[in-house]
Amino acid sequence: MGVLFIIASNLFYVYMPKLVGQATDQFDDGFEPEDWFSIALSLGGIYILMSIGKGIFLFFTRQTIIVVSRYIEFDLKNEVYKQYQRLTYNFYKRNNTGDLMNRISEDVSHVRMYLGPGVMYTVNLSVLFILTFTFMADISLKLTLFTLAPLPIMSFLVYKVSSRMNRQSTQVQRQQSRISTFVQETFSGISVLKAYSGESKFKDEFNEEADTYLGKHMDLVKTNALFMPTITFLIGVSTILTIYLGGVMAIDPDSNISPGNIVTFVFYVNMLTWPFASVGWVTSLIQRAAASQDRINEFLDEEPEVKSTNNEQFDFKGDVAFQNVSYTFPTSGINAVRNLSFSIKKGETLAILGRTGSGKSTVINLLMRQFDPENGQILIDGKPLFGININDFRKQAGVVPQEVFLFSDSIRNNVKFGLTEDSEVTDADIIKVLKTTHVWHNIKSFKTGLDTVLGERGVNLSGGQKQRISIARALIRNPKLLILDDCLSAVDTETEEIILNNLKEQIEKNTTLIVSHRVSSIRNADRILVLDHGSKVEEGTHEELLALDGVYAEMYAKQLLEDQKESENEE
Ligand SMILES: Nc1ncnc2c1ncn2[C@@H]1O[C@H](COP(=O)(O)OP(=O)(O)O)[C@@H](O)[C@H]1O
Ligand SMILES: [Mg+2]
Repeated sequence: MGVLFIIASNLFYVYMPKLVGQATDQFDDGFEPEDWFSIALSLGGIYILMSIGKGIFLFFTRQTIIVVSRYIEFDLKNEVYKQYQRLTYNFYKRNNTGDLMNRISEDVSHVRMYLGPGVMYTVNLSVLFILTFTFMADISLKLTLFTLAPLPIMSFLVYKVSSRMNRQSTQVQRQQSRISTFVQETFSGISVLKAYSGESKFKDEFNEEADTYLGKHMDLVKTNALFMPTITFLIGVSTILTIYLGGVMAIDPDSNISPGNIVTFVFYVNMLTWPFASVGWVTSLIQRAAASQDRINEFLDEEPEVKSTNNEQFDFKGDVAFQNVSYTFPTSGINAVRNLSFSIKKGETLAILGRTGSGKSTVINLLMRQFDPENGQILIDGKPLFGININDFRKQAGVVPQEVFLFSDSIRNNVKFGLTEDSEVTDADIIKVLKTTHVWHNIKSFKTGLDTVLGERGVNLSGGQKQRISIARALIRNPKLLILDDCLSAVDTETEEIILNNLKEQIEKNTTLIVSHRVSSIRNADRILVLDHGSKVEEGTHEELLALDGVYAEMYAKQLLEDQKESENEE
């Protein structure tokens, strides 16, 4: 449709210079003064009608081609976003946020520029060139060839200038995002910045970045400044050639070139200027779009490492087992889990104890299938984890990760995050879990209670408060598998005891995995597994491990001593 509209619009357009030529020839031939008005009215009237026709179809052209390119952009953005949601843990470790953002915004818009304006100008040039050339050659082929000769040179020059401009504007954009990241970091770290009197240091650094930005922008402005003069110069050359050669030909009594023809030619040459310039511009646009599409495809072609092939409903009963599981991080080559085996039966509580870096969180990531083990297998109710419907399994688990993440949203919505749309959870239920995690008494004192917005422009909570809201988010799902990853580290031992006590009912009924580096939080577990450098070094109940007098007993004694010191200091 767009192509048809372009043809229609240009059909009107190419007639317009002819009318001006005719008018000129009227003057040349001479006319009766009383005819002046009717000539002006007829030629002028047709000219206006032609330009209205041209305008209407130009409007439709943009309404089709540009609108379609926006729809394609919309689809492409959704496609990239959907792919982002499919991709897993290691993909996000490999690529930084800036890169992910760029591909969904900048690169997609480069592709759109090609599909919209790129296609439109290319079709426009072809149609306009064919029509104009036919009309001009009809008057004089020789004059046509001479006057159009400088235009391809212009295309080439514009291509060179545009490519340079694209390269430079990418540089400018890159520097722009560096500045944004820098500024954003100063805002989020403002209290550290102030506490360390970092203001002047940051000001200098900002100045430097801004200076680089200015430099890069100046380069762009310089190239940009070349753009119009190049075009204007070459139009000038073409116009002079037309008038000179046309004039010489018109003087020759044998030729059939009229002054009106020269005027028409000058108009045509000017009409072809933009389309020819756009050849250069579009060429550089296509190159940029191709590079962008390559970058987008690189992400789109990426297959998620973790795939759930089974869509059958999965009802988790409560058994979890690891059999000789090993995992090495591809990014760092760290062998985080080594030949690990353990099992938890329904209703049991297993605790994993180990120093930081011993592989505890990796075990949980493996269990939640953020990535798959290198060796060995994980069994859920006796079935291999990779064979079951992972979404169903995840829905029945409540994971409290070590690093708390709360959304910039109300406390209510943060707690309800893991629930389905149709779940009928009341504020009373939310308050109940917040009481269980011993944080309601804090929230109650906020002016807006559950509606209190967290994060940016909202309330800043303490680390311990955040951890407790994050536990509430897991509990409200009534999980059949509760996983606590060192999630009480920012809470004092006393509060920790209160919370664990409140959780008793949940823990006794369901399978639970508690991870900690603190002996006090896991003493009461059915079984304790001690990890060191990814390997299991001890396993047993609290009493058994104490009797063993190994790593666990040593850690216990040390931490007992620390706790005593702490309470003595308090007294
Ligand atoms: N995404 C990752 N890429 C590379 N190495 C990692 C990654 N996450 C953790 N590690 C490494 O794996 C080891 C175990 O980490 P982790 O399971 O987080 O320990 P823990 O939870 O016991 O503190 C550490 O040495 C850590 O540096
Ligand atoms: Mg950890």
